[in-house]
Amino acid sequence: MSRQGWIFRVTPTGPKLLETGPAKAEVEKMAEMTNPSVELSGVSKWYESNASQEVPERRILDGLDLVVRGGERFAIVGPSGCGKSTLLNILGTLDAPSEGKVIVDGIDTSGLSENEIARIRSEKIGFIFQMHHLLPQCTALENVLVPTLALATRPDPAAATERAKRLLERVGLADKLNSQPGQLSGGERQRVAVVRALINSPKLLLADEPTGALDEDNAKRLIDLLVELNASEGLALIVVTHDRAVAEAVGSTRTLNRGKLEG
Ligand SMILES: Nc1ncnc2c1ncn2[C@@H]1O[C@H](COP(=O)(O)OP(=O)(O)OP(=O)(O)O)[C@@H](O)[C@H]1O
Ligand SMILES: [Mg+2]
Repeated sequence: MSRQGWIFRVTPTGPKLLETGPAKAEVEKMAEMTNPSVELSGVSKWYESNASQEVPERRILDGLDLVVRGGERFAIVGPSGCGKSTLLNILGTLDAPSEGKVIVDGIDTSGLSENEIARIRSEKIGFIFQMHHLLPQCTALENVLVPTLALATRPDPAAATERAKRLLERVGLADKLNSQPGQLSGGERQRVAVVRALINSPKLLLADEPTGALDEDNAKRLIDLLVELNASEGLALIVVTHDRAVAEAVGSTRTLNRGKLEG
C-alpha cells in the first residue's frame, strides 16, 4: 500500500494521525517503541533494621530514577547482595519500593490495590528466573498457557494455543510440545520459560540470572534468543547477570552501585 496517504499533522492540541490502515499501524508501533515501558522515580528500598542487633538501616536502592523505553535492552551487573534482584522485582511490581514511584506503561502503580497491580503485571510484564519454575505435571504447551489464565479478559483458547505453539516452534521446541519439564534438558526448560514469559505479549521482559543454571553454549543460545525477541517483538529487555559474556551479548550494561544505576 502506498504511503502517500499519510496524514500526520501537528495540531494545536498535539500530533494527530488521521489515517487508518497499515501506515497508521506502523506509526503507532514506532510511537509505542519510544514510550516508556516502565519508569522509576526516586525509588528507594530499605528493610527495617533489627534494633536488638544494632544493625544500621541500609538503603539497598537509594533515590533511583530510571526510564526504560519500548524496544530498549540492557544488562544490570553488580556484586552479590547489591540489590539487583530487588531492583528487578520492583520494576516488575513483584515488590513495592519503600519510597518513590513505579510507573508501568503510563500507569502509576502507587495507589493501586494488589489485584489491580497483579492485572497490570500479567498483561505487561514477563519474567524469567534462574530456575524455570515450570509446573512439573504439565506439558511444555500447558506451562506456556498458564499466564493466559491470569488475564482479565481470557483470550480465545484456540488462538492462545496457536500462539503458544508458534512461539515454541520458534525457539526450536516444535517436537517437545507435549513433554513434561522432567523430560526436557536445562536449556529446553529455560526456553519454555521464555515462551511462557512472552505468551501475553508483554511490553517488558525481566530476566534475573536467566543463564545461571545453564552451560556456556546454552547460555549463549538463550541470550541470543532474548536479544532476537527484543528486536523482533519491540519489547524492552532487562537482564540481571554477573556473567560478563552474558552482559556483552546483551550489548549495553548498567552497574548497580550504592543503590543507584550507573552507565
Ligand atoms: N526480606 C528481606 N529482609 C531483609 N533484607 C533483605 C530482604 N531481601 C533482601 N534483603 C537484602 O537486600 C540486599 C539485596 O538483595 P538482592 O537479592 O537484591 O541482591 P542481588 O544483587 O540480587 O544479589 P545476588 O547477585 O546474590 O543475587 C541483600 O543484602 C539482602 O540480604
Ligand atoms: Mg539476585
